[in-house]
Amino acid sequence: MGIGRLSDGLARTPPMGWNSWNFFKGNVDERLVIETAEAMVSSGMRDAGYRYVVIDDGWMAPERDRFGDFVPEPSRFPRGMAYVAERVHALGLGLGIYTDAGTMTCMGLPASLGYEFRDARRFASWGVDYVKVDWCHTDGLGPRALYAKWASAFQGAGRPMVFSICEWGRAHPWEWAGTLGHLWRTTWDIQPDWSSITAILDRQSGLHPYAGPGHWNDPDMLEVGNGQLTADENRAHFALWAMLAAPLMAGNDIRAMPTDVRETLTAPELVALNQDPVGKQARRIRHDETGDVWVRELAGGDLAIALLNLGDVAREIHVGLEDLALAPETRVRIRDLWQRADVPGSRDDVSAHVRPHSATVLRIARY
Ligand code: GLA
Repeated sequence: MGIGRLSDGLARTPPMGWNSWNFFKGNVDERLVIETAEAMVSSGMRDAGYRYVVIDDGWMAPERDRFGDFVPEPSRFPRGMAYVAERVHALGLGLGIYTDAGTMTCMGLPASLGYEFRDARRFASWGVDYVKVDWCHTDGLGPRALYAKWASAFQGAGRPMVFSICEWGRAHPWEWAGTLGHLWRTTWDIQPDWSSITAILDRQSGLHPYAGPGHWNDPDMLEVGNGQLTADENRAHFALWAMLAAPLMAGNDIRAMPTDVRETLTAPELVALNQDPVGKQARRIRHDETGDVWVRELAGGDLAIALLNLGDVAREIHVGLEDLALAPETRVRIRDLWQRADVPGSRDDVSAHVRPHSATVLRIARY
């Protein structure tokens, strides 16, 4: 653990879970949350490592109670949040919730400015395990100071909670948020289309020094299975988020996902790549209009490399060992993480035939 980082032992690897926002927007209720938690178990997502079920914006009633406490909207959460937490915990999962640091949430519901300590204690009393704190309606407020207040509020709340900072990257949170929270958004909101995913990916270049166990760059939640993304685009999106040591928060309807989406989200060697214990984020070593090469150092000295074809035609992407800072005479073993198979053939360079809008991910071991 680096100096000045949180030392609470939470989020030693990037948090994994599900969040309601990308697919359901403000349409959240008790039934959706519990059904999703159940589907995380029956689909194998929980066993693949997904842990937090996060309720995003839209859960709160328009007014706080007479003590100033948050009230879940009774028509949506008739039995309250402690009940939801209990149901989620009984399935071996954690509950996450959302608030906003300003005067209102992005949906215009009550937010937490001035109530940070009260709300952190309230979330703890409900059994919440993860809190996302958004940044709408914060005119004139300084993110660093206000998120520091939240960090103190969580420390005093009496329950360990993962703290997700959602400031969208404007005030360069990677430079200060690692001492306060476990993850911080680096960009604006993701959309379920390829151009949004690649634009966000482009903005992650150079951020690798700021991530590590307990503190992660967050390029936003997954759109795998949403919109018109093709199976290759879903896999490429997931692969690059795995390379980036990004939090893996699924954002689709887990209750009704097609097999290929489930297989993408639970691909064991990609999830293992994301969760590599050393926690080093990939860096980009090549970028042009047709494609990217990203490299990530793994535990035990292995490397992972992603060959991403951004173009509209299939092509060969080639990487020399010297590009990976390996001596030319090094012999390597190569494994294709989507195919879950070792790649036969020459061992003095790395290359793959990559379909358009798709990513091949290789694990390279020296011997
Ligand atoms: C902002 C955040 C999103 C989501 C919405 C909810 O746009 O960046 O992730 O939480 O607010 O209103």
